[in-house]
Amino acid sequence: MRKDIEELSSRTRAPRRLAMMSAVISAGIAMTSATADAGTIEKRDFGKLPDGTPVFEYTLTNAKSMSVGVLNYGGIITSIKVPDRDGNVDNVVLGFRKIDDYATKNPYFGTITGRYANRIANAKFTLDGQEYNLAANNGPNSLHGGQKGFDKQVWDVKEMPGDGSVGLELAYRSPDGEEGYPGNLDVKVLYTLTDDDELRIDYTAVTDKPTVVNLTSHSYFNLAGNGSGTVLDHKLTLNADRYTPVDAGLIPTGVESVEGTPFDFRQPARINDRIRESDEQLVYGRGYDHNWVLNRPNDGSLALAARLEDEKTGRIMEIHTTEPAIQFYAGNFLDGTLVGSAGKMYRQGDGLALETQHYPDSPNHPDFPSTVLRPGETYKTTTVHRFFTDKI
Ligand code: GLA
Repeated sequence: MRKDIEELSSRTRAPRRLAMMSAVISAGIAMTSATADAGTIEKRDFGKLPDGTPVFEYTLTNAKSMSVGVLNYGGIITSIKVPDRDGNVDNVVLGFRKIDDYATKNPYFGTITGRYANRIANAKFTLDGQEYNLAANNGPNSLHGGQKGFDKQVWDVKEMPGDGSVGLELAYRSPDGEEGYPGNLDVKVLYTLTDDDELRIDYTAVTDKPTVVNLTSHSYFNLAGNGSGTVLDHKLTLNADRYTPVDAGLIPTGVESVEGTPFDFRQPARINDRIRESDEQLVYGRGYDHNWVLNRPNDGSLALAARLEDEKTGRIMEIHTTEPAIQFYAGNFLDGTLVGSAGKMYRQGDGLALETQHYPDSPNHPDFPSTVLRPGETYKTTTVHRFFTDKI
C-alpha cells in the first residue's frame, strides 16, 4: 500500500467509523463490521420492484477509501468508488438512482449476466442430440440469458465479513427450463472487496442436467467518473493476440490475429485512435463490441486480461481472470436516452464494458472452449478488478 494513503486512511478511519455509527442510529441503516478497524457492510432500502419485492443496496467499504454498492436485484453493481491520484474518491461505473430504471430500461449496467452471457446464434443450440430453443431478444439471436436473465432476478444475499476484506455471497436457483435452458442451475456469486482495493468476483454453479453456462459481470466503466463524459480517451491494453471477428449480427465467424487491425491492443492504445476506422468489423459493432481471445495458460490460473487507464485522473484498473476471453464493448448503443446516477445523460462511449467470459455462441462452435456443464461438475471462474493510480 502507498505510504501516504496508508497514513491518511489510518488517520481518517476512526472519525469515519464514528460518522457511520451515527448514520446507523439516525437512519436505521444496518451495518456489519468484523473488527473495529476492518471494512464495513451496510444495507439500505432501495425501493420495490413493480411486483412489490423489496430491493436492498449493500455497500461494501474497505479499510481504505474504496467502496462497492450491490443490489440483490440482478446482483447489480451500482457503484465502485475509488480514489484518483490526488485521493479524490469518485464512482467509476455507470448506473441509475432508482430501482424502476434498473427494472425497466437497464442496458445491463453492473449486472450479473447469465445463464449465457453474450449471444447464442438464432436463439438455439443442440446438446447431446437435443435441440433447445431460447428467447430471441437481439434480432434472431439470444443475448445475455434471454428476456429475463440473471440480471433481472432477485438473488439471496449473505453478508461475508472477513479479515482484510468484506464480501457478499449472492445465490440464485435458475429452474429447469427457465428461458429455455435445461437443468436446475444453482449459482453463487461472491463479491469480495479487499483492503488492497481489489474487487474479486468468484462464480460457481452446479446443475442437475447437462446445460451451458457463461457468467460475467457487466459494469460500464468510466475511470474519470460516472457521468463525466466520454471514456474513449482512456488507454486500453488487452492481453490478446487473437479475437473473434463477427457477422452483422455480432456472432463470431472464427478466430483471427489482431496483427495489423484496429483490434490490436497489445500495446496501450487510446480507444478513440482507431474506433472510427473504415473497417467492416467496427461498422458491424458501431465500434468495438467484440471478443478477444486471451493469451494465457489453460490451467485455470488468474492471468492479466486488460488494463484501463485514465490519464486525467491517474486512475488505473487491471482485470485478471481465469476465463479464456474478454468482450470489450465501447458503450456503442448508449444514445442519450438514459439519465444515470450522476444526474447526467449518457451518450455513445460514455462508459465501456470489459466482460470476462467464454466466447460468444460457444454452444454452436465445437472448436471453441466448451461452456457445457454436466451434473457432478462445478462451474468455477474468478475475475479480479484491481484499482490503483499512476502516482508512485
Ligand atoms: C454486450 C453486447 C453488446 C450490448 C451490451 C448491452 O456487451 O456485446 O452488443 O448488447 O452487452 O447493451
